[in-house]
Formats: sequence, structure tokens, C-alpha cells
Amino acid sequence: MSKLWGGRFTKETNKLVEEFTASISFDQKLAKEDIAGSLAHVQMLGECGIIPMEDALKIKEGLFSIKTMVENDEVEFLVEDEDIHMNIEKLLIEKIGPAGGKLHTGRSRNDQVATDMHLYLRTKTNEIIKLLEDVQQALIEQAKENVQTLIPGYTHLQRAQPVSFAHHLMAYFWMFERDKGRLLDSLKRIDWLPLGSGALAGTTFPINRERVAELLGFETVYPNSMDAVSDRDFILEFLSIGSIIMTHISRLSEELVIWSSQEFQFVELDDSFCTGSSIMPQKKNPDVPELLRGKTGRTYGNLIGLLTVLKGLPLAYNKDLQEDKEGMFDTVETLEGSLKLLAPMIETMTVNKDVMNKAINNDFSNATDIADYLVRKGLPFREAHEVIGKIVLYAIQSNKFLLDLNFEEYQGFSPLFEKDIYKVLAPDHVVAVRNSFGGTAPEQVIKQIKLAEGKLQS
Ligand code: ARG
Repeated sequence: MSKLWGGRFTKETNKLVEEFTASISFDQKLAKEDIAGSLAHVQMLGECGIIPMEDALKIKEGLFSIKTMVENDEVEFLVEDEDIHMNIEKLLIEKIGPAGGKLHTGRSRNDQVATDMHLYLRTKTNEIIKLLEDVQQALIEQAKENVQTLIPGYTHLQRAQPVSFAHHLMAYFWMFERDKGRLLDSLKRIDWLPLGSGALAGTTFPINRERVAELLGFETVYPNSMDAVSDRDFILEFLSIGSIIMTHISRLSEELVIWSSQEFQFVELDDSFCTGSSIMPQKKNPDVPELLRGKTGRTYGNLIGLLTVLKGLPLAYNKDLQEDKEGMFDTVETLEGSLKLLAPMIETMTVNKDVMNKAINNDFSNATDIADYLVRKGLPFREAHEVIGKIVLYAIQSNKFLLDLNFEEYQGFSPLFEKDIYKVLAPDHVVAVRNSFGGTAPEQVIKQIKLAEGKLQS
């Protein structure tokens, strides 16, 4: 059998053109969706009397057996048949004869391919939401173990104020929570059905688009056929949310790389998540978080790629739109792979509480608390800040930390100091008094974890 669209042509397609224009090498990933869309379409054609019900049933049977063949990897997709749509249609005609040729009544590949991608992204978006929840669960588990574990909190990567390690981890929980919200919201727009728009202008057949939407589980149908076949902003949205998710993964990964370095040693990643060096036997490299960080780049690339494809396109369908797929698949696969690794890596990492504790006790991250102390004794904050600056400088010059200075030294800086200053400067106390809602005090962190658990259950 020659090309499905061969009638108008007198020459064979140039082989290079055939290869260049074919999308089957990648869009075969849409086989399942393509068959699902066809099953709903043909059911509707039969119900509306557009084709005899008998033929519709025959087509459905044929499609089901092709579906099984695809699942069993028994189909050999052909470049000559260009894309997944024509490969399947041709297989169908081969299987059930001329009745198979009725499947494409009242539709075009343009509304068909758009439908396939809506179906694909709907499934993948829901799967990714679940994977995000696995990561969130892992964060909660580690957080629960570390409410009382203190770690330096940084600004400018300089020690700022001590925080609960759980608090630090939970910051990522909320980033992923917002990502989930973004994905859920995008589903509202993925839930529009393009099928029934024809090539661009609708169709002359008395089709029932709502019925197809119902069969495929779509909320609504696109009200404009030209928009339906050329809209790709549901993919742009997915790619941008995917990029945001990867940004969050990348930031967390960067922290894991830093924390697991010889210089920090705050955490140790499980052996099963690290790799060695072929030349330096002492090394244990955090390849997984590094690669998660690195893979973020390709997801940005996929977003910019599709934005660029779309920006100058006139309505309606243009072949350029075929370029929408590989980036989408790549972002889906990158997200799936990354999230699947991230959850167990967080679960299995060892938190070096002693090292963190030592860090907390050997820095000036309690300096703000002396300032607040003097303020509570009546000194204006700016003056207090000045006094503390001097104390810190003095301590640095005498090679001491704030808790090492004796009472006379404190009194020398201000008569407002009393003996309770030592209690105030203890890291546990410094953390516990940041008890405002959303703060790092263990009491708040416990509240926060409860709130987070509620989000996962709902
Ligand atoms: N493989 C094509 C794509 O992915 C399917 C739609 C083809 N439509 C057409 N008018 N050539 O965009």
C-alpha cells in the first residue's frame, strides 16, 4: 500500500524528505493515546450514523488488537508511513480491510495529534504529581527526625542564624507543594478536547464532540477549531512548570552537594547514590545531585525551544508544530527520572548531627540575639547593632566566640548585660525563641509538619 495521501502525487517522495519529515521515531510514544482517541472517535461516528455501526465495531476490534500488538512490542513502525497516526491507520486497513479507511471520516491529523498530546500530558501530569508527593513524603520523614537538629542558616552563604534542619528541609516541601498546585491548575486547560475540529475549520459531518469528550474523560471541547489545532500553550505551560520543578530540584541538589562535601560534612549520601572516581580511590562523588542540577538545563532548553517554534507561526496548523514533541517527552522523562531518584536519596541520607552541632557552636550566628537582648533592655536597635559589631570584632581579634567571653568583658561593652546573656546566646535558645508562625522554633516546625502532612492526605 502506498502513502495514505498519495492520490495527488505523481512521484515517489524523496527518501531524505521522507526521513526528514517523519516523526514516527519519536511520536510512537503516543501510540496508546492515538488508539484511545480513535476508539472514541469511531464510537461516536457509529452512534451518529456517520458510518455504519457494523463498521465502527469492526474498526474498534481492529484497534484493540493493534493496541495489544503495541503493548507486546510486535509492531514495526515505518518511516514511510511518516507518523504514529498514519502508521496505525495503515495497520488497521491491513488488518480489517477497506472498512478501516472509514476511521478518518470527519477528522484530520491536526485535531488528532493535538488530542493525543492532551491525553498524554493529562496522564503524565497526574503521574508527576504523585512522584512529587513521594519526594514531599521523604522530606517530611527526614524533617520529623530532625526537628531538634540545628544547622547554621545562611544568607549569602555566610552563617546567619541557626535553624532547625527540619525547617530547612521543609522549605522544599512547600516549593513542591506549589509546583503541585501549578500542575493541578494546568489540568484545567489540558482538559479541553481538540478532536472534532477537522484540519482547521470544523467538519461537514454531523459529529458529536461532547460525546467524544465524554468518552475520553475531557471536561469540555475547544470552542474554536482553529485554536484547537494550533494551540500548544498547554504544552508550554507544562514545560514551564517542569522547568520550575527542576529549578527547585536543582537548588536542593546544590545543597546536598555542598552539605556532603569534605568541607561541610553535614550529611552523607548513601553509598548506593554515589559513584567513585576511576583514578582517585578516596572519592565518593555526589553524581546524582550533580546530574539533577545539570539536567535542569535541558528542561529550560525545551521550554525556550517550543516558545521559539511558536512565536512566529500563523494560524492554523504548520509542520513546525511537529517540533513540539521531543522536548515535551524529554521534560516528562527528565522529571520522572529525577523525582524517582530524589525521594530515596533524601530518605537514605545520613544526617551528621554532631558535625552540625559543632558548627552551630563555633560561629557568630547568635549575634542577632545579643542585639535583641539589648533592645529588650531599652537600647534602640541601631545602637545595639553598633555595640554588637564591636563585641564581634573584639571576639574575632581575641580568637573567641560570643559564648566564650566572660561577664566582665560583656559589661565592658554595656552595663545593660546581665548573667542571663549566656542562656540567651545558647543555640537551642536562639532557635526556640524564633517562635513566630512560620519560624524555625521546634514548636512551629512541628506545627508546620502537621500542616504539611494534612496536605499530603488531602
Ligand atoms: N506528525 C504530525 C505532527 O506531529 C501530525 C500532524 C500532521 N498534519 C499535517 N497537516 N501534516 O505535527
